[in-house]
Amino acid sequence: MVEKRIRIGVLASGSGTNLEAIANAIERGEVPAEIAIVLSDNPKAFALQRAKKHGIPAKVILPSEFSDRREYETALISELKRAEVELVALAGYMRLVGQEFLVEFKGRIMNIHPALLPSYPGTHAVRGALQYGAKVSGVTVHFVDDGIDTGPIIIQRAVPVLENDDEESLHQRIHEQEYKAYPEAIRLFAEGRLKIEGRRVRVLGETSS
Ligand code: GRF
Repeated sequence: MVEKRIRIGVLASGSGTNLEAIANAIERGEVPAEIAIVLSDNPKAFALQRAKKHGIPAKVILPSEFSDRREYETALISELKRAEVELVALAGYMRLVGQEFLVEFKGRIMNIHPALLPSYPGTHAVRGALQYGAKVSGVTVHFVDDGIDTGPIIIQRAVPVLENDDEESLHQRIHEQEYKAYPEAIRLFAEGRLKIEGRRVRVLGETSS
């Protein structure tokens, strides 16, 4: 039997280590998916090199070349549709997605955030946990809605904040969990096991303990 593989579009603005973790998990056969396209708003994003290394088509779409966000997003949407993308994964994408995008991919946009939401939304979440003196932070994979890191939560993983942590060491430990949680969330989506019910995401086939 030929397994159905869903087509993913990844949006990345930076280093792309999550993109790489997803690509590696797919190559190991752990996620029934294919990264159909990587799009970036930043020509210097190292994510573009990582995509190339994995043989994934990648393209820069520069927001400054469009008159407003709506036009920029229309271009993004048409690239994603051309690539027949079924799921959009934001992986270090440093922009908010607009209404048109949300409507087009309703319930099919995921994001990864380096904190246990709803704590420390927005940028600098790792710094936020350190500055607050939190003992535990972590990782959240969630569906995207029209707020800032407010969408229904799919997976969370806790990460301890250690006495001597600085932003880099804590982010490194958070990354290790991200690289497991994001491919896992995508696998669950690809298997058709995620059901959004209001603010909650039910994972089908999982018994609650
Ligand atoms: C990750 O920590 C992710 O949680 C946040 O941005 C960072 C992106 O890192 N949204 P990378 O580009 O995947 O290396």
